[in-house]
Amino acid sequence: MTLRVIAGGRDTADAPGLLVTGASEIATLAGGLRRGPGQADVGIIEAGGSGAPDAPDGPDAPVVACWDGRVLGVGPRSAIERSLDVDGFPLARFARLDARGGVVTPGLVDPHTHLLFAGSREAELELRQAGAGYLEILAAGGGILSTVAATRAADAEQLAEHGRRWLGQMLRHGTTTIEAKSGYGLDLPTELRLLEVAHELGREGPVDVVPTYLGAHAVPAEFRSRPDGTEAYVRSVIDDQLPGVAAQGRAVFCDVFCEQGVFSADQSRRILLAARGYGIEPRLHADELAPSGGAELAAELGAASADHLATPSDAGIEALARAALTEHPVVATLLPATTWFLMKDHDAPARRLIDAGVPVALGTDFNPGTSPTPSLPLVMTLAAVRLGMSPAEALAAVTVNAAHAIGRGGDIGSIEPGRVADLVVWRVPRLAQVPYWPAADLVHQVVKRGRVVYEAG
Ligand code: NIG
Ligand code: FE
Repeated sequence: MTLRVIAGGRDTADAPGLLVTGASEIATLAGGLRRGPGQADVGIIEAGGSGAPDAPDGPDAPVVACWDGRVLGVGPRSAIERSLDVDGFPLARFARLDARGGVVTPGLVDPHTHLLFAGSREAELELRQAGAGYLEILAAGGGILSTVAATRAADAEQLAEHGRRWLGQMLRHGTTTIEAKSGYGLDLPTELRLLEVAHELGREGPVDVVPTYLGAHAVPAEFRSRPDGTEAYVRSVIDDQLPGVAAQGRAVFCDVFCEQGVFSADQSRRILLAARGYGIEPRLHADELAPSGGAELAAELGAASADHLATPSDAGIEALARAALTEHPVVATLLPATTWFLMKDHDAPARRLIDAGVPVALGTDFNPGTSPTPSLPLVMTLAAVRLGMSPAEALAAVTVNAAHAIGRGGDIGSIEPGRVADLVVWRVPRLAQVPYWPAADLVHQVVKRGRVVYEAG
């Protein structure tokens, strides 16, 4: 039985089963959304129970068994192998993957990206070094607006080529599912093009892509010249764009940049409620630069996620804490690479949010202006050094909680029977080493739906 390794391709291995052996430890993240003290519980399985860990190749070393793209079981090798045979899954039909003493985790989930755009904005780094603010650059026609001009001029194939390149980078850093926002079209044809390309890239695989419509990312140039430009654009999003987006059927979520000086909480509410009327669920860019009522609005609407939260109000944090006690908690998706790259001197209050019982996820915010990194492991490092999150809390934030933040918590983000078999085999023996080696090449193999789709050279 040979396991064929493929780079970025589809299912070509000929065995229906995959047995991952030789792991030092497996972080299962089993058991659902993490919050409060549970944010640090990553469900580690190592050999020997509470005793000394077994050698990675010993009979009690932990293994993961996958079948037909789903997880069958996870636990000590001898017990799993016995139960497979008994349950009618002959061992001979399993390809083997040797983790060579590395830690195994679920495939990482990036719940906030702006994957698709054209051009780049490296000049803004120097403008910021010279003291320019993010919204100041935008108001002068740069920032998001310069990416919009380049993106409108790009055709679907150019956008897809760009998307493949960066999805490949994300995969090499352990990411197996992403959310991808539109928002660099700000007119219906370009927004639809972005959503279609995002959807198609997900179909192509191996990384799954969940498209989000972000028509209210900025007010485009053609509306800015009007005295009531922002309000006119909000009406256009609701009346002209949303019906087309809904008819296209690709967008799973609707997002709004809810921020003082961009879209107010009231405008954001109108857009998100209109989207919900079409079955497109809300998520928000909330309180990124100043307290703007974003966290409060996310809680009021029962949004899947409130993102950024670098400057939430006390009332906003309390609203998220109350929402966490309901059946549909709002996940706080924090984006520390953004505050870092914008050279901000303060970050999202991760510790306060966790202490208040709010489930916390982490994302890259991959985009050409504020966070041009595809790496969730780097984001985990930043979460540790800037947000005070432990490596375990950060891992929960980029797996099970990130999966919940994009509505896929029942399917991905953990290693437990029935979940999609998306796994990362790391080159380090302990989870705590993942954020410890920033910007290093730490991923050994990535498994997507039970197949190896990436192996480091
Ligand atoms: O999440 N703040 C709004 N949107 C993005 C940045 C987009 C851009 O600058 O191109 C963000 O940081
Ligand atoms: Fe963003």
